[in-house]
Amino acid sequence: MKPKISASILNADFSFLGNQIAEAVKAGIDWVHLDIMDGHFVPNISFGPFIVETCRKLTTLPLDIHLMIDNPDKYLSLFAKAGSTYISVHIENNPNIHRTLQTIRELRCKPGIAINPGTPASAINSVLNLVDLILVMTVNPGFGSQVFLEDQIEKITQISKMISSSNNKPILEVDGGLSSKTIPLAQRAGAEMFVIGSSIFSGKDGIQKAIEEIHNCLN
Ligand code: DX5
Ligand code: ZN
Repeated sequence: MKPKISASILNADFSFLGNQIAEAVKAGIDWVHLDIMDGHFVPNISFGPFIVETCRKLTTLPLDIHLMIDNPDKYLSLFAKAGSTYISVHIENNPNIHRTLQTIRELRCKPGIAINPGTPASAINSVLNLVDLILVMTVNPGFGSQVFLEDQIEKITQISKMISSSNNKPILEVDGGLSSKTIPLAQRAGAEMFVIGSSIFSGKDGIQKAIEEIHNCLN
């Protein structure tokens, strides 16, 4: 797959959300990534289904929902109704992960599994054939603008190999600390979808320039 960009709006200026998304779409992003945080699973609170619904009105691009919440099952139908395309849940906090992933598919969304830096690749072995997306965290989830954890490169390589021998070939996505310096490292390890937040929305040269620069380093 050609490398693609999923723009995380966590660091966008929400007083101009419509403009910011329009500018990013025009500059050629592929998906919009929404980080849902509940203050329990991660030490931060972000936004809920309402913002997914808002983004659904602002763009026709796929909406890539990253749930960092306890009890995700309780909220899946709300996020599906709001217009989610992909819904990723974490492997770490879910004793009934098979059921959660099946429910996401029943709701006509594409299921993804997210994995934290402290969790070994083998933890997602049993769900590999149930998901369309694997979201490898390269920072500890909770905040934008954190430093890329280089020790996760080995895990990206491992998961990339696991995907090659799987039946359904889920997309390999990386999330956290990605910039023109760290994108090539993740890409060499096998990542194909890049979640990028602060490098797009908090750069000093503006959204369009930032995306141009990212395109130049993705090959
Ligand atoms: C962190 C989130 C990321 C974050 C990425 O918990 O999952 O999606 O917004 O932001 P940057 O690119 O700034 O690391
Ligand atoms: Zn995310």
